[in-house]
Amino acid sequence: MYVRSFADGNGDGIGDLAGVRAKLPYLRDLGVDAIWFTPWYPSPMADGGYDVADYRDIDPMFGTLGEAEQLIKEAADLGIRVIVDIVPNHCSDRHCWFQEALSSGPGSRERDRFWFRAGRGKEGELPPNDWSSIFGGSAWTRTQNEDGTGGEWYLHLFAPEQPDLNWDNDDVRKEHEDVLRFWFDRGVAGVRIDSAALLFKDATLPNFDPDNAPAPHPFSDRDELHEVYRSWRALADGYAGDRILIGEIWLPDPERFARYLRPDEMHTAFNFDFLACPWEPERLRASIDATLAAHAPVGATATWVLSNHDVTRHVTRYGRKDTKFEFAAKTSAIPEVDLELGTRRARAAALLTLSLPGAVYIYQGEELGLPEVEDLPTGALQDPMFFRSNGTDPGRDGCRVPLPWDGAEPPFGFSGVGASAEPWLPQPSSWSELTAEGQARLKASMLSLYRDALRIRRSEPELQDGPLRWLNAPFGVVAFGRGDGFMCVLNLSDSAIELPGHAALLLASEPLENGRLPSDSAVWLRSFA
Ligand code: GLC
Ligand code: CA
Repeated sequence: MYVRSFADGNGDGIGDLAGVRAKLPYLRDLGVDAIWFTPWYPSPMADGGYDVADYRDIDPMFGTLGEAEQLIKEAADLGIRVIVDIVPNHCSDRHCWFQEALSSGPGSRERDRFWFRAGRGKEGELPPNDWSSIFGGSAWTRTQNEDGTGGEWYLHLFAPEQPDLNWDNDDVRKEHEDVLRFWFDRGVAGVRIDSAALLFKDATLPNFDPDNAPAPHPFSDRDELHEVYRSWRALADGYAGDRILIGEIWLPDPERFARYLRPDEMHTAFNFDFLACPWEPERLRASIDATLAAHAPVGATATWVLSNHDVTRHVTRYGRKDTKFEFAAKTSAIPEVDLELGTRRARAAALLTLSLPGAVYIYQGEELGLPEVEDLPTGALQDPMFFRSNGTDPGRDGCRVPLPWDGAEPPFGFSGVGASAEPWLPQPSSWSELTAEGQARLKASMLSLYRDALRIRRSEPELQDGPLRWLNAPFGVVAFGRGDGFMCVLNLSDSAIELPGHAALLLASEPLENGRLPSDSAVWLRSFA
């Protein structure tokens, strides 16, 4: 959940914990069993809260620590667990450690918690190496001495407001273990680990060419990481009940990815291969196969994700000619989009993901079928990805627009019934068709489809642990069984197809046409006993 955009409880146009608490019954009715909160900690919001100034408190914009504790309890009473976001790769430049590092000067113990280095060149005017920030530009920023001359440089793989922590330093390890305990002690059921493959750096800080990266990579997927996650797992296992570790791990190699999911490391990690996959039957099937094959040997639960707060919403992706997702391919020249087609495919994709073996992550607004907002006024944009790419990347604000709850025009009840505060990002007026309240009343809506699918997912035993087996299917059709009792059929071909013999139709993403499954739609069937 991206709190800032979920629901506003105090009428200032910014989502907050009071807003979430008021909407807990909505989440229960939707049928989710856990909520992952993106960072809710005190933060200058240079990167939407992923620049954490204090890991043990709540940003006043969102509420108080007491309120978070209350929320965790209230959610638990509704059978919903809470997962918090842990950001170990970097902190905010306003974090007390970084402030102390700046004032303590070169060679200090305080600076050793980060990556401070002298610059190259005659006057140290060049960055220590040629690494680029993931948000664009150099990964180094120079500090200023008190007399105004240039000082040391510090490393930031993301924005300059997010200095990277030095994981070779013991303080950094101890601090994060303590932060984990802080949240586990408050009843959270798990942590999502941000940028989990980036923590360790080659301390010689060599130059490198990203298109021709050496192995081991100087800052990604280094072997030292595994020992840290083993210690976190031991810590989590020391608590009663399940406390799970979920990694944000973008790695192209499924075997390297699965190493993080060995039995004494993380429980699961986001499946970005599947998220990025184009809407093509062979590619989808291959991604599912590769996912299950990588998870099986380590005995980990697979995950299925279609959207999150970093990527173009999938209603929009699937409505374009090129349906894959790739950060590098994002451009400010907005590709043409057919939202009706994208929505139809998103409905089918929901039935696909919700019937695959493993855990599914739903990104707020996906259950309403929200598209990416691609025409936000430039003046409203906030994402450093937009600014640091000099606008060549449109940034991630378009998937973070505040949700439409009810009513016929913006702000669609975002700040409560009748409240008129302007949401922190403007909502399109076309969202009048997509409000939660409007959709709850319509059987044919995306919201009703998600509710029905989540209900059936809970009640069908085969959807819990029935193994997946592919079924013979015509060209362009993806079909699989779960156990002996359940089938999912997804038609990506251009024409309607006959359904396999079945005992009952459980759910369809589109009305059948004379008993046939139309193009770009999916069904759930109960097999003959
Ligand atoms: C992760 C987050 C993203 C953030 C980045 C830096 O990728 O999901 O939103 O900008 O890490 O913390
Ligand atoms: Ca608010």
